[in-house]
Amino acid sequence: MKDSFGRELTYLRLSVTDRCNLYCLYCRVPELPRRENMTTAELAHIVNIASLAGITKVRLTGGEPALRHDIVNITKTTASTPGIAKVVMTTNGLALARLARPLAEAGLRGVNVSCDSLDAELFRNITKGGELARVLDGLRAAREAGLYVKINCVVMRGRNDHEIESMTEFACARGMDIRFIEYMPAARGDGSGIESSIHGLPGDIVRAIVAQRYELIPADALPGDGPAQTYQIAGTRTTVGFISAMSNPFCESCNRVRVTSAGKIRSCLLTGGEADLLGSIRAGASDAALLQMFQNAIDARPPVYQLYQSAPIDMRAIGG
Ligand code: GTP
Ligand code: 5AD
Repeated sequence: MKDSFGRELTYLRLSVTDRCNLYCLYCRVPELPRRENMTTAELAHIVNIASLAGITKVRLTGGEPALRHDIVNITKTTASTPGIAKVVMTTNGLALARLARPLAEAGLRGVNVSCDSLDAELFRNITKGGELARVLDGLRAAREAGLYVKINCVVMRGRNDHEIESMTEFACARGMDIRFIEYMPAARGDGSGIESSIHGLPGDIVRAIVAQRYELIPADALPGDGPAQTYQIAGTRTTVGFISAMSNPFCESCNRVRVTSAGKIRSCLLTGGEADLLGSIRAGASDAALLQMFQNAIDARPPVYQLYQSAPIDMRAIGG
């Protein structure tokens, strides 16, 4: 399906739960009332409709997707949906030591693992109690299981920006890819942000820091990939990417639509625009009607995001 600005939508980000077992600095929204997750069958139905709408790549997100006890089954069902060529996941990595292999066997192709520091104490502070060693074990297990592994690092000025070089070094040493992400002040819709003390670092500055030490060769993004501006690090197998939603919006090439953990189709991460797909499924809507909802959500996509046009942005429910 194309939106009204000619952008082809091929990539679904599906948030399977709003629960997370970390509480990262940049994602500290007030506790949500506990909500029932969508069932495996409902998720399968959504993926099926999405594939009819032309989606070929699904990224399972959360919250933390691995907190669902049925995540292997969800992965398997998603990967076996006709038309879905690639299933990947964004995770905090805590469960990967246990789950990487079953997930790979279920058809998962790769994981993007959030890791904002390689210093155990700083990691604990940023995540409010997370254990770095478990994430590192998870990264290793993911590689051993044959998953494609990418590290996501949100750069925060004065907090972890001194680790840009060491994080890059870490990725190079392991032949993993890494992306540095600009902080998106998304926790509060009114801009009063509970974490107004956090300041991101523009992608260009982060890139200049990496380039002081490494030679960067512009690399083409793979078709169907997300928003990172990517470079090969000369002499290594590692690519480094910069996701600069604030300083350099990439909306004109945006190829994705989201379904939140509450089963709402969301037209744009930062602008909003939601339609209750799950409600319609539960009310017994036909596949044709559900497909039309997809088309309507896609038609509603703005050309460029407009921050704070809707209710506060909750990354856990939307899935980033
Ligand atoms: P690939 O499929 O590997 O290219 O993934 P991705 O970078 O799209 O996904 P990931 O879940 O790893 O997200 C990395 C960062 O990009 C997170 O901070 C996301 O919130 C952000 N991101 C992903 N898609 C969008 C988007 O459409 N708009 C904006 N502003 N940010 C996005
Ligand atoms: N700004 C930028 N990135 C964010 N993420 C979560 N919240 C934010 C934010 N406010 C990132 C996480 C994870 C990915 C899904 O989104 O680090 O890697």
